[in-house]
Amino acid sequence: MTIDLAALPHDFLWGTATSAYQIEGAVTEDGRSPSIWDTFSHTPGKIDNGDDGDVACDHYHRWREDIELMRRLGTNAYRLSVAWPRVVPGGDGPVNPKGLDFYDALIDGLLEAGITPSVTLYHWDLPQVLQDRGGWSARDTAQHFASYAAVVAERLGDRVKHWTTLNEPLCSAWIGHLEGRMAPGLTDLAVAVRASYHLLLGHGLATQAVRAAVPGAEIGIVNNLASVEPATDRPEDVAAARRLDGHTNRWWLDPVHGRGFPSDMREVYGVELPEQPGDLETMAAPLDWLGLNYYFPSTVADDPTGPAPRVRTVRRLGVHRTGMDWEVEADGIERLLLRLTEDYGARKLYVTENGSAYPDVVRPDGTVDDPERVAYLEQHLAACASAVRKGVPLAGYFAWSLLDNFEWAYGYDKRFGLVHVDYQTQRRTVKGSGHRYAEIIRAHGGRGRSAA
Ligand code: IFM
Repeated sequence: MTIDLAALPHDFLWGTATSAYQIEGAVTEDGRSPSIWDTFSHTPGKIDNGDDGDVACDHYHRWREDIELMRRLGTNAYRLSVAWPRVVPGGDGPVNPKGLDFYDALIDGLLEAGITPSVTLYHWDLPQVLQDRGGWSARDTAQHFASYAAVVAERLGDRVKHWTTLNEPLCSAWIGHLEGRMAPGLTDLAVAVRASYHLLLGHGLATQAVRAAVPGAEIGIVNNLASVEPATDRPEDVAAARRLDGHTNRWWLDPVHGRGFPSDMREVYGVELPEQPGDLETMAAPLDWLGLNYYFPSTVADDPTGPAPRVRTVRRLGVHRTGMDWEVEADGIERLLLRLTEDYGARKLYVTENGSAYPDVVRPDGTVDDPERVAYLEQHLAACASAVRKGVPLAGYFAWSLLDNFEWAYGYDKRFGLVHVDYQTQRRTVKGSGHRYAEIIRAHGGRGRSAA
């Protein structure tokens, strides 16, 4: 498939993305304390196959090899997350030097390899000790997050300029506190709404903390947004689509753009927000860029008796699906990029995650052939390039993921990597999609290394 690579800026960031709990392993090493994901994954019945992140991709010990993989792919950027329980094991208070040393060495390794690090401060691994004190439903957690952010920024900020406060706060709040499918596994709307509020407050406070510690920092927030369509043109379904848009998109975008929380959704939730004077200004701390994580579109119908936001997903027939059973529709990424530009006035955007899971196998000749992932990658990159032609200020694309990894409640069966991981041996094998990504980067005039 042709991708209009000439549309992309010459200094485009070509990256891959991962997160700490999904790849690091070493959960009890060097002073790391348990996170809510250690607790959740060790709770019987929560994770497919009873998997957990104890070892994951053993990246904590193999990070040099993983940087070498990035060099072979020819990527010039890498999005990683820092594990809060490694750096501040008590959630607040004393800093664990060994935790910081790990990320310090990783950043140096990336820079030596010519790869720009992009650091996410929170990708869901809240220290369990803070959960025991109320987690994100407690206001103090937002303050503790900012203190931890300051610690990381002060240590890495001489070399890291690209910072993300939160990854997909929607998942933390709605999936973790309302649907219960992710840590901490709660199903309480009032708690979920409070958590969403404190996550955004924490985002604003952390933005201020990083800004103060890092001259020239470029700070953003990463949201997984949905391109939503009503299943029919019945007014009830159109209203349902509007509610899902509010739940997934506007609830997260409006406050950081100084618009406050959408009033229609406040009504849908019917939950008092824990507002204090000045909070909305804090949440709207100026940002340098926005990150979009996009995987699939949503078609919805009204579900009058369902839990908030009272919508039901409708399966469309004849649409290709990934191994997650997610529909493939590349136009959705273009629509969302245009919306962020036109409705929210974004001046700089990154696709901070995009990818697909399929049940890959290593063939007897040692290769991994994944044509469906290649097609997914090409289609979505083509849609990104088309968005740029229409005026979207897209500055980079981070493929999810560098490696197969711990896919949360799905465990290790869902493989998103451009690189296959054999979890018995920890052997890494670049998949066909990894080779194709390297070729695309080369064709764009990137670093031109061979992934062979
Ligand atoms: O693996 C996750 C990642 O942690 C957050 N975004 C979506 C990915 C695929 O489900």
